[in-house]
Amino acid sequence: MAQLLLLLLLVAPGWGAQLKTTQDRTELLNVCMDAKHHKEKPSPEDNLHGQCSPWKKNSCCNTNISQEAHKDISYLYRFNWDHCGKMNAECKQHFIQDTCFYECSPNLGPWIQQVDQSWRKERVLDVPLCKEDCQRWWEDCRTSYTCKTNWHKGWNWTSGHNQCPVGTTCQRFDFYFPTPAAMCDLIWSHSYKTSNYSRGSGRCMQMWFDPAQGNPNEKVAEFYAEAMSGAETHWVLACPLLLSQVLLFWLLS
Ligand SMILES: *[C@@H]1O[C@H](CO)[C@@H](O)[C@H](O)[C@H]1NC(C)=O
Ligand SMILES: *[C@@H]1O[C@H](CO)[C@@H](O)[C@H](O)[C@H]1NC(C)=O
Ligand SMILES: *[C@@H]1O[C@H](CO)[C@@H](O)[C@H](O)[C@H]1NC(C)=O
Repeated sequence: MAQLLLLLLLVAPGWGAQLKTTQDRTELLNVCMDAKHHKEKPSPEDNLHGQCSPWKKNSCCNTNISQEAHKDISYLYRFNWDHCGKMNAECKQHFIQDTCFYECSPNLGPWIQQVDQSWRKERVLDVPLCKEDCQRWWEDCRTSYTCKTNWHKGWNWTSGHNQCPVGTTCQRFDFYFPTPAAMCDLIWSHSYKTSNYSRGSGRCMQMWFDPAQGNPNEKVAEFYAEAMSGAETHWVLACPLLLSQVLLFWLLS
């Protein structure tokens, strides 16, 4: 009788945990964050514009958002890339890609966090950006100019778009961002965490990809969703196990 009870104690929480983690993992995959312009759920979008078109098969952005992503001071955030004179075209294409990735990707689930902000309920934190994507971005931008390290906060918005606040000076990108990781990690207050992994490794997210080969970030999100819910499983499983050991000891003594 005691043995049966023990067996149940051991096994039942395991089943529960397994069910729960499968559910948690699924909730992290193929989702859109609850932010300013995201669709409620990902779905195909046949007419995504320009650099956002890789997400056509499954997207969190619609056609309108994909068009706006390519504009200066667009209706999305009224953000002015040219706040310290004209940004190089090679540099700007990375910011457009970053906007497409943020608005359209249905694979950011593992890094979505709740936030208490007026303009969005969720954000992403520490998305592992492939090191080459960050490197190229930084190299193409290092000779453009900016006046701030964190582009999320501290602008002067009185004119309706962001302007450099008083007390800042326009300097080359590599003055404010000495390394690629400094730029990718700090510019959007840790939305990215530059990865040590390379494109194609299946362990980092690509801002740029060729859709002919499918979306490589699906596999990456699955890997991290598994790793994250796996970490919880061990914890949930370890506790009842420990509990039953104590119980066994108590029953036998
Ligand atoms: C996208 O939609 C907004 C709001 O309805 C509108 O102001 C804007 O002009 C649209 N953009 C394009 C490119 O159609
Ligand atoms: C903000 O910019 C306006 C001009 O657009 C300027 O008159 C004002 O002094 C600036 N305020 C701060 C705090 O930088
Ligand atoms: C990244 O990889 C390089 C070379 O493979 C290694 O030397 C370095 O320690 C790694 N850095 C981190 C943070 O893992």
